[in-house]
Amino acid sequence: MTYLRNAWYMIGWADEVGEAPLVRTVLEMPILVYRKQQTKEAVALIDRCPHRFAPLSLGRRIGDDYQCGYHGLRFNSDGLCVYNHFAKAIPSAAKVRTFPVFEQDHMIWVWTGTGAPASTATIPRFEFHTDPAKRNVFGTTLTRADYRLISDNLMDLTHTAFLHPEFGGESYVPKCKTWEEDGAIVVDHLIPSMPDIYSGSGTITETDRMRWNAPATHYLESHVTMLDESRLSFMIPSAHVLTPESLTTTHYFWSSALDHDSPMSNDELIAALRRAFDGQDKPMLEAVQERMQGHELWDLNPVMMPTDTGGVLVRRRLQKLIDAESQAAAVKTA
Ligand code: FES
Ligand SMILES: [Fe+2]
Repeated sequence: MTYLRNAWYMIGWADEVGEAPLVRTVLEMPILVYRKQQTKEAVALIDRCPHRFAPLSLGRRIGDDYQCGYHGLRFNSDGLCVYNHFAKAIPSAAKVRTFPVFEQDHMIWVWTGTGAPASTATIPRFEFHTDPAKRNVFGTTLTRADYRLISDNLMDLTHTAFLHPEFGGESYVPKCKTWEEDGAIVVDHLIPSMPDIYSGSGTITETDRMRWNAPATHYLESHVTMLDESRLSFMIPSAHVLTPESLTTTHYFWSSALDHDSPMSNDELIAALRRAFDGQDKPMLEAVQERMQGHELWDLNPVMMPTDTGGVLVRRRLQKLIDAESQAAAVKTA
């Protein structure tokens, strides 16, 4: 198994669920997310009617209930069937699975495990998303690659030198330092000197600090200092959150933020990020996925380089958590 099931996964940005519902597949489960009319609280149900498996999202919303568009069974936000057009009796099996939902920092998370969810305090914070001192941009990229390949890519930013010419290109030659801290795995990429990619002239020093938390949340801080008399410093935060759609496809949720007085507009920032994530990382990762022909990374004996340390630690930690979860499930069913 390559997924951790007992985990909080991001299913979307808060503003993706408004009047219209959001339907997104997470760990191969189609999930319907909508907001209750009065409280605006987001709720999540399996988007599959238990009768003949029609998507509930193709049905009709009635108050806080969904009526299946095929034969009309109606389900409330607790997943219970509350109406059967053809009889008073409601079939006892007519229930749909619901998922605990938590909303924080402009992100909506669902608990995909069984049993009581882990404390929401374990979900990494992205407070910059709601910081009034920042201008935020948000995006989502569906990538046809195993989420662990994308995690490898994020934990080793040396690929910037060849894949992202506009983020420093070949001058992006970092010294990397990796460590573990409070359950997270952190990699510092320190670039002593590179062209100033922010103003377009002069040189800068940059440290890109990538922090991973299980199962696939990455928080990047880019600390930049101008190498001129001003020694001007600033930090650009960004989120890189991965949610497996299936074994070989991943929702990549990304964000970044600028100070209000930054010379770069939000549109320019979005365009630069889309070029990198949609136009450069995505095609490379999809090509890698294809070339691996369904094999696990370790089965192909990959060449190891010191810059792979962060990614390897992440894979090991993740596998440990997945194995522990599988063993606990086996003991339960024995
Ligand atoms: S498929 Fe939904 S009521 Fe029949
Ligand atoms: Fe990249």
